Amino acid sequence: MNSLAVNKEKMLAQAWTVPLEEMDISNWYLTEHDVVWPYFERLRKEDPVHYTEDSRYGPFWSITRFNDIKFVDQNHKLFSSQGSIGIEDQLEEFTTPMFIAMDPPKHDAQRKAVSPVVAPSNLAELEPLIRSRVGTILEGLPIGETFNWVDRVSIELTTQMLATLFNFPFEDRYLLTRWSDIATGGKNSGHVNTTEGFQREMMECLAYFTRLWRARENETGGFDLISMMANNEDTKDVVDRPLEYLGNLILLIVGGNDTTRNSISGGVLALNKFPEQYDKLNAKPALIPNMVAEIIRWQTPLAFMRRTALEDVEMHGKQIKKGDKVVMWYASGNRDEETFEDADRLIIDRPNARNHVSFGFGIHRCMGNRLAEMQLRVLWEEIQTRFRKVEVVGEPVRNRSAFVRGYSELPVKLIPLD
Ligand code: HEM
Repeated sequence: MNSLAVNKEKMLAQAWTVPLEEMDISNWYLTEHDVVWPYFERLRKEDPVHYTEDSRYGPFWSITRFNDIKFVDQNHKLFSSQGSIGIEDQLEEFTTPMFIAMDPPKHDAQRKAVSPVVAPSNLAELEPLIRSRVGTILEGLPIGETFNWVDRVSIELTTQMLATLFNFPFEDRYLLTRWSDIATGGKNSGHVNTTEGFQREMMECLAYFTRLWRARENETGGFDLISMMANNEDTKDVVDRPLEYLGNLILLIVGGNDTTRNSISGGVLALNKFPEQYDKLNAKPALIPNMVAEIIRWQTPLAFMRRTALEDVEMHGKQIKKGDKVVMWYASGNRDEETFEDADRLIIDRPNARNHVSFGFGIHRCMGNRLAEMQLRVLWEEIQTRFRKVEVVGEPVRNRSAFVRGYSELPVKLIPLD
């Protein structure tokens, strides 16, 4: 057995033996090596409101049961999003306000301003273009050869889809991935190494998008997100508040990027882990919409969201103090056996698949949920018209992050239809 395998075994075993007060599930090793599940299971059973005193992010509470997560997410008057929704506090450097990290009334007004862009009627207009771009990518893939699904499909598709959604100049589309990486990774993104560099990139992003807005504001009939914002009564002034425009752009770019990308890879992996589900899909493609919800439950692309307690609160006998960080572990809630039978398995016709908490709950519930589902549905419909199987032929490489649950490598081979 190699040392990594030994370590993995050790980490799995430790889930049930480590003293609870020493347990820190924000340790990215647990996610990177996919050993976090028994830790979540133990916390759900033995300590559903768990305090970690010593972590690299300082002390925080972990909420791991499905119903408790919903309770926290729905009680924004007790649990605030203001400032940060990551375990880490925001640095006092250049911050772009975005409504995911705001409380009412500001949150509600800003969300209302941009939410028309993802109205079902608008999404229906975008669907044919997304379908044709999905088709082009799938047609360009090699048959019978091993390749990395993450690079060739998940990243490429998500970048193209983002470019499609913004009607962003296609040849510059990699800028979107770059700005997304910089907005989430900052100085650790590999693209910039100073605060000034970060600010400069963000300002370039704003300038680029402002040019696009100005070119489109007097044209009607565009179905991209910028035209829709520029021509909507509620949103037509956003461009005059540059940091708000930038914050909301970043939210849309980041929100639509890693999450959808990792659901694309996670779906392929899950169908290969549970081959009887792949057979079910091949026998009944009408299951695709339910399967998409189940993939998003199983993958849970964002493991958690954090809140800050606004008052002292007691939960399961634990005293959460005003000002404490409270982390809702969606990844654990989605594997809660009290809500999802056989929760670790992908079951594409699971009756309550749509009840998952991957999109959160309450006033911050993901604004792009229908868009994400549409993209994944179109992708799987197009895959099914071309390939009998996307076969995983090697081990996936997972992200080094406890927050973004995703992959950098997934070796696959395509098996065409008979
Ligand atoms: C599978 C894909 C996706 C997942 C799993 C996901 C997950 C989430 C989660 C967990 C939240 C926070 C919920 C809460 O705090 O209660 C959120 C918020 C948000 N998401 Fe998504 N997301 C996805 C795709 C998208 C897409 C495609 C977009 C748009 C282009 C998007 C835009 C947003 C926005 C704007 C918010 C902030 C909502 C608010 O604060 O009111 N997301 N998302």
